[in-house]
Amino acid sequence: MTAPAEITADRLDLREKEMVNTDWFNEELDIRTKKTDEIVCRFLPEEEGYARRVIEAMNYSVLAGGKRLRPLLIRETAIMYGANPSLYEPFMAALEMIHTYSLVHDDLPAMDNDEYRRGRKTTWNVYGEGMAVIAGDGLLNYAFETALGVLKACEECADPAVSFSRVSRALYVLARNAGIYGMVGGQCADIQTQLHPQQTDEEELLYIHSHKTAAMIESGFTIGAILGGAPQEDIDSLAVIAGNVGLAFQIRDDILDVTGTQQDLGKSIGKDAEEGKITYVSLHGLEGAGEKVRELTDEALVLLEKLPLKDRFLPMLLQSMTGRNK
Ligand code: IPE
Ligand code: IPE
Ligand code: MG
Ligand code: MG
Ligand code: MG
Repeated sequence: MTAPAEITADRLDLREKEMVNTDWFNEELDIRTKKTDEIVCRFLPEEEGYARRVIEAMNYSVLAGGKRLRPLLIRETAIMYGANPSLYEPFMAALEMIHTYSLVHDDLPAMDNDEYRRGRKTTWNVYGEGMAVIAGDGLLNYAFETALGVLKACEECADPAVSFSRVSRALYVLARNAGIYGMVGGQCADIQTQLHPQQTDEEELLYIHSHKTAAMIESGFTIGAILGGAPQEDIDSLAVIAGNVGLAFQIRDDILDVTGTQQDLGKSIGKDAEEGKITYVSLHGLEGAGEKVRELTDEALVLLEKLPLKDRFLPMLLQSMTGRNK
């Protein structure tokens, strides 16, 4: 088949390059996700003693897998700004523990009442509701035990005072974005909209998405940069990028709840409509939601290009996050 006249040799060239790049990205994503997974798993607690059952439940949910996007983002930005692995690796594990706890609690019958997560039965489904509640508590607390361990590592750094100050700042970001001014705040509003779906407007929905989801993604984008001593304007820029990506990521999640399959996503689908949730799709339809995702992604890409990127991985990761099918 001959190429249509308007497709010039140059454009074909570019397409070929993009295809080569896509293969490169997929391979790199696989390698870097495996590395991330290995780092996260290294920090998990031993399943022993009288608390063994809760530790098993904690590890069950983390070891179920998941895309590991938030710790992957910490590592990418940490490497971009030359942070020390002994400082950023415990933060990678801590962020994934907090994210996993948020999923364990989100799936409980008292919240979204979901039976599948990460391709397996949900934690409450296997260990019971009480154990799932404390497995979530355990993960949240162990996340901070793990991250606080970094304060000790500061003493061995070339400039302990500088490292100490960066680590303290990163700890604050980790805590704040997970709490009432971040993910917990968003989950609170999410629960409440189910009680008054008719009165939920765009502003409230944006609050929910930017808090329940974008806040934790912001920790992924900024903690590595903070630990690497990035200039403040770059950290601010990363926070704006994360706001866009996080919002687009959750809108995409709302789209996939309608168009995705349980097999691809590894979690229950169709639940938002069933539970009468207000989502970007219920307010603007699939097309409007898709358009918003594209807009947010494009804005984020423009900002990302201004940062000292080492290769094309981060821009491609950003696009794969907002265009994801799983
Ligand atoms: C699921 O997050 C919760 C949302 C914010 C939509 P992910 O889609 O990153 O879940 P895992 O970690 O890959 O399981
Ligand atoms: C949850 O949003 C975000 C969290 C803070 C866990 P959803 O309830 O839409 O996430 P899924 O679809 O269950 O992963
Ligand atoms: Mg939910
Ligand atoms: Mg849910
Ligand atoms: Mg969802």
